[in-house]
Amino acid sequence: MENINWKELPFGYFKTDYNVRCYWRNGEWGELEISSSEYINLHMAATALHYGQEAFEGMKAFRGKDGKVRLFRWEENYKRMARSADSIVMKEVPRDIFFNAITTAVKMNANYIPPYGTGASLYIRPLLIGSGAQVGVKPAEEYMFMVFVGPVGPYFKEGFNPVKVQIVKDYDRAAPQGTGQFKVGGNYAASLKAGLRSKSEGFATALFLDPKEKKYIDEAGPANFFGIKNNTYITPKSESILPSITNMSLQQLAEDMGMEVERRSIAVEELETFDEVGACGTAAIISPIGTIVDRHTKKTYEYCESGVAGPISTKMYVTLRAIQEGEEEDKYGWTNVVEGV
Ligand code: PLP
Ligand code: COI
Repeated sequence: MENINWKELPFGYFKTDYNVRCYWRNGEWGELEISSSEYINLHMAATALHYGQEAFEGMKAFRGKDGKVRLFRWEENYKRMARSADSIVMKEVPRDIFFNAITTAVKMNANYIPPYGTGASLYIRPLLIGSGAQVGVKPAEEYMFMVFVGPVGPYFKEGFNPVKVQIVKDYDRAAPQGTGQFKVGGNYAASLKAGLRSKSEGFATALFLDPKEKKYIDEAGPANFFGIKNNTYITPKSESILPSITNMSLQQLAEDMGMEVERRSIAVEELETFDEVGACGTAAIISPIGTIVDRHTKKTYEYCESGVAGPISTKMYVTLRAIQEGEEEDKYGWTNVVEGV
């Protein structure tokens, strides 16, 4: 194994030694298979390729100061993947297969789990696809579930430093009654143009508005949105955003810090009133937002005048990481130690 510079890792694909696969054929799930190939053998008429039968998850394992490796809220990822599968008529992955697959993938690649204190973690990517052939628009009769892992650093190169994001109104990542609340590939395909354009214009990501009225904040390309004011944590309630597990966790931490929590529509004009705003997700963790520019009106909202994240975002970030790394009491049972690594 090459020497890995853990502290400089970007968020990206990293080849490891093994991945895990499981097939649904003839009406049942088979045994887990371990592979050392990065490739899959797929029928050219697989529904994943033609009709977008594809859902994925993103989760992380952390090496703690005590040397133990912890998964964070894996069961929420399992449940969300089941909802995603149902939304596009794929076979759901049973809970025990999901758990065995992720823990096997972590254990088999133990050499790639970043050491404590590097800021990096092991990203776990479960993936479910329609692998059976169809040409008519129909769900597949065969499915393939895979899990690969890889060490990652922060999603945005800024890490825990403020990022610039851009409000876009001329693209939607999901339709009002579409698949926005599920983690299916089509949402990400739909977000690519806006995301690339935002990057080329100097922003970390696009911030999408509600697709129906284009008045309210929905979410960023890869992360949910939150704002803080008057001792209140406020985050969008919308049917077209992904229910983020990180966001759920931050809502609990905000309550524990004595704050109010509101899940409701956030009109674009309200951006003016927040003391702190941020993006949150497994990959993004908390990314404090320093600047929001509306691409259409050119209106600019500034936060983090001092150039660093605000005090509440900072406290939530530190607490979340401390729970994930086993340094803060895990009051809600969010972590599971992976035995034997
Ligand atoms: N929103 C989108 C569109 C995402 O892709 C993600 C990442 O999974 C999130 C939000 C954050 O969700 P979570 O905190 O469960 O990772
Ligand atoms: C995550 O936060 O895990 C994501 O999946 C976001 C992005 C990489 C798609």
